Amino acid sequence: MNRIFPALFLALGLSLGLAACGGGATGQPPLAGARIGGPFTLTDQDGRQVRDGDFAGRYRIVYFGYTFCPDVCPTDMQKIGQALHLLDKQAPRTAAKLAPIFITVDPERDTPAAIKQFVNAFHPKIIGLTGAPATIAQVEKAYAVYAKKQPPGPGGGYMVDHVAIAYLMGPEGQPITTLPLEKDGAAIAAEIQRWVR
Ligand code: NI
Repeated sequence: MNRIFPALFLALGLSLGLAACGGGATGQPPLAGARIGGPFTLTDQDGRQVRDGDFAGRYRIVYFGYTFCPDVCPTDMQKIGQALHLLDKQAPRTAAKLAPIFITVDPERDTPAAIKQFVNAFHPKIIGLTGAPATIAQVEKAYAVYAKKQPPGPGGGYMVDHVAIAYLMGPEGQPITTLPLEKDGAAIAAEIQRWVR
């Protein structure tokens, strides 16, 4: 929900040397050495247990959101889906190395079935993960993701305030960079191609 937070977080928290414009991937990844990520055991959209280690050897796109999100999450996921479809066509070898992952910040409502319907709308390869609230909270912390359930509205429904960020992580789970969700699917695909070897 918040585009400013990641920028501040990145600028203040990590003191990065962001790669120069047009510099290619010759420099250090922006998130090299950042303490982001870590082991998890969650449940996928088919009800199977999934561990972070299951993605070993693949580059991961990790996005945190929730299926009831009225605006930002569906828009971001649509862009990620567009990027994946573009890569399928233009760079299938790169596409084959990717594991796109959606992790809910609303585990109380986001059942595997709800997540399955949501992720399938964007790209068939996207893995949607949920888990017990305490487990999800640990994963949010490991990924430095802010998310907070808001008080319910008149109808009883509630929103979850959360940072909208997509990490690109390497084959060993190391953070590489964030993807430019403020841009379009083509720009996101280009950023992925810049780092995936
Ligand atoms: Ni959202």
